[in-house]
Order: sequence, then C-alpha cells, then structure tokens
Amino acid sequence: MLNSIGLENVGLEDFLSEKLPSAREYGTHIIASIGGKSVEEFAEIASRFEGVEGVSALEVNISCPNVHAGGMAFGVNPDTAAEVTAAVKHSTSLPVIPKLTPNVTDIAAIAQACQQAGADAICLINTFSGMAIDIHRRRPLLGANFGGLSGAAIRPAALLRAYQVAQAVKVPVIGMGGIMKAEDALEFIIAGASAVQVGTALFVDPLAAHKVKDGIASFLQEEGLSSISELIGSLVLNPV
Ligand SMILES: Cc1cc2nc3c(=O)[nH]c(=O)nc-3n(C[C@H](O)[C@H](O)[C@H](O)COP(=O)(O)O)c2cc1C
Repeated sequence: MLNSIGLENVGLEDFLSEKLPSAREYGTHIIASIGGKSVEEFAEIASRFEGVEGVSALEVNISCPNVHAGGMAFGVNPDTAAEVTAAVKHSTSLPVIPKLTPNVTDIAAIAQACQQAGADAICLINTFSGMAIDIHRRRPLLGANFGGLSGAAIRPAALLRAYQVAQAVKVPVIGMGGIMKAEDALEFIIAGASAVQVGTALFVDPLAAHKVKDGIASFLQEEGLSSISELIGSLVLNPV
C-alpha cells in the first residue's frame, strides 16, 4: 500500500473524551501514538496523558513521512530523535516507545540514541518513502506527490531492520512492516522482537491481528514451547 494520509486524527481533546472511553471497553493495554511539530509539542502532548486511565504507554511517532512539519524530520537524525525521546520521557511516567523510520542510513544508530535518551522500548518500522506516477497524465498518483510504502512488499526489509535494532539495543523491540499472517510475525520475534504490530493487513482482513495472535499460539503448541519468550531473538545465523 502506498499512502499519504499524514496524521489525520481528531486531536488530543477529542481523543481523550471520545475515542479513549470506547477503546477502554476492550479491557486491554492501550498504547497511545503521539506526534508533534516541535519538541515542546511532543512534550506537552505526552504530559496530557499523565494519569489518564487505560493508557499503558506512549509511542512517539518520529517517523511519519507524510507531514509538512515534524514527523520523520525528527527520526532521521540521532540527535533530534534523542532530543524528542528525552523531552517526552521527562514529561511522563509512562513507558516511552519511539517509532523509527527506515528511511535512514543506519537505523541501529538512531535506536541506540533513543535508548540512551531513556526510551523504554523501540518500535519499528514506519513506512518506506515511495511514489507512483500516472503515466498518461504525467502526474503523481498521490495527492501529496510522495507517500509511504507498507504491506507485504516491505517485510524482508523491515525484518532486517528489526534484527539490526534488536542486536543494537537492550530495551525491547516492537517489530512491524508487512506482517500479514502468524508466520510473518514469528519471523520478527525470532529476529529479536518482543512484540509485533499489524497495520496494512487489516485493510485486507480486519481480523488479521486476531489470526496472527491465534497462529502464534498454535505454533508455540506445535513446537512444544511454553512461552513466546523462548522464541524471542532465537535466530541462529549461518556461518559466513
Ligand atoms: C493507511 C496507513 C496509515 C498510517 N498511519 C500511521 C500513523 O498515523 N502513525 C504511525 O506511526 N504510523 C502510521 N502508519 C504506518 C504503520 O503504522 C506501519 O508502521 C507501517 O505501515 C508498516 O507496517 P504494515 O506493513 O503492517 O502496515 C500508517 C500506515 C498506513 C498504511
């Protein structure tokens, strides 16, 4: 999928008053994803989640490719990634999880900078920058000209980055990028991810996340494993 949605949402006030109450009804942990146009805005939004019932952690989106200000600009540089992470960390007692962009030369260096700045976990990846062209009109297909590529096509590239980051940091890694089924999620877990996210697959099958969860449970049973922790980072590389 190639999208240029940006960070369309109802905004903080309406999220807290309208969206969160219905999300709470599921009785599960909720990780709120926050974005900002400046370091100060990230910090301010983070502080507004202090004491909010039902929110267990903050994901810090320093990787959105589709916004004019902020977004990915913070995540492409270790210093700014660390600056946002530290500012959010100082503004909240919740676990802080920076979400990284793959559109960098060395994602492991960004992850290490975030860890150094106090990140409690690292989440990756956001979309790869991409574009598509209408060959008859000679115009980009996306209204914003460029966008973010996600879904099955990016999985091998996302998996490598999850592996590289898991090798580089001590904090837990949350992996994503093209996970369509349980086997895909298991690859990320074996590569070192402690948890996974499912995005684009939900456009194909709204129940994809449930199926991934059930498939992981079946796999553990088949393999005679008592806990997923036995699989996390269990990858053995070939001798080369
Ligand atoms: C339609 C769409 C909207 C997205 N919006 C956001 C967003 O608001 N914030 C964010 O951090 N990532 C956003 N993403 C990125 C996904 O969360 C995810 O990092 C990326 O798509 C790779 O995972 P996937 O292949 O499972 O979708 C969006 C992706 C898609 C396809």
